[in-house]
Amino acid sequence: MSSKPAFPSSSSTTDDRLPLPVHVAIIMDGNGRWAKKRSWMRVKGHEQGASTVRTIVRASRKIGIKVLTLYAFSSENWQRPAKEIRALMHLLKKFLKTEEKEMVENNIRLHAIGDIDRLPGDVVRRLNAVQRATAAGRGMQLNLALSYGSRGEIAHMTRCLAEKVRDGNLELKDIDEEMISNHLFTAGLPDPDLLIRTSGEMRISNFLLWQIAYSEIFVTDTLWPDFTEEEYLSIIDAYRQRERRFGKTVPS
Ligand code: IPE
Ligand code: IPE
Ligand code: MG
Repeated sequence: MSSKPAFPSSSSTTDDRLPLPVHVAIIMDGNGRWAKKRSWMRVKGHEQGASTVRTIVRASRKIGIKVLTLYAFSSENWQRPAKEIRALMHLLKKFLKTEEKEMVENNIRLHAIGDIDRLPGDVVRRLNAVQRATAAGRGMQLNLALSYGSRGEIAHMTRCLAEKVRDGNLELKDIDEEMISNHLFTAGLPDPDLLIRTSGEMRISNFLLWQIAYSEIFVTDTLWPDFTEEEYLSIIDAYRQRERRFGKTVPS
């Protein structure tokens, strides 16, 4: 499972303007509140949210983001009412169907991360088909976090390493940070440089706990369905003005 990174890591320069983030991760929150404000059903918010996904994927590809990870459905979201889950799965299938062609044309590779086997069979089949169809895409990798929970991911990685040790294929002393990273669903990818959460909640909600150790975090009050390309670009701009120190001192 361990592999050479497919993408370069961003540098830890203290220049005025950092380079673009290589990897952007987004907690797309606020669909329900967006609908509620209009006295609409929650699913309307999810529909509008799917349209924002399209906008942000296009914008990311356009400006040269190499990896975009979108939190679309958490392992905890399985506790929502069955009707809402059904609607979300239906929207996901529709999204995969309508976006496949554009992803192929724009050289975007789709990669699902999470406990995918828990998703309905027809969704899994469509996901696999789109992953196959876009496998050669080198322009940008779009990770869709589905049925994803970071603690579950870490437990999965631990079982994987423990099994290798038990079977004599791995020595304890060889377990280091890089090996752990290479056994997560994001193996081979750089950690997110930038984490964005919409709709104002100051929490991580079990998303990429290991990978965001040194990500720059931006929380906006904007609800996901109202999130625009313009605001996205302004956050990227603000990211580029930040100073990433990674625990070091700044040269004076
Ligand atoms: C995010 O919007 C979408 C998913 C979690 C699937 P929410 O549905 O969580 O919207 P709020 O937080 O209730 O407004
Ligand atoms: C996080 O949003 C999960 C996704 C965006 C898919 P939630 O709405 O589920 O998170 P909490 O419940 O506010 O923490
Ligand atoms: Mg929410």
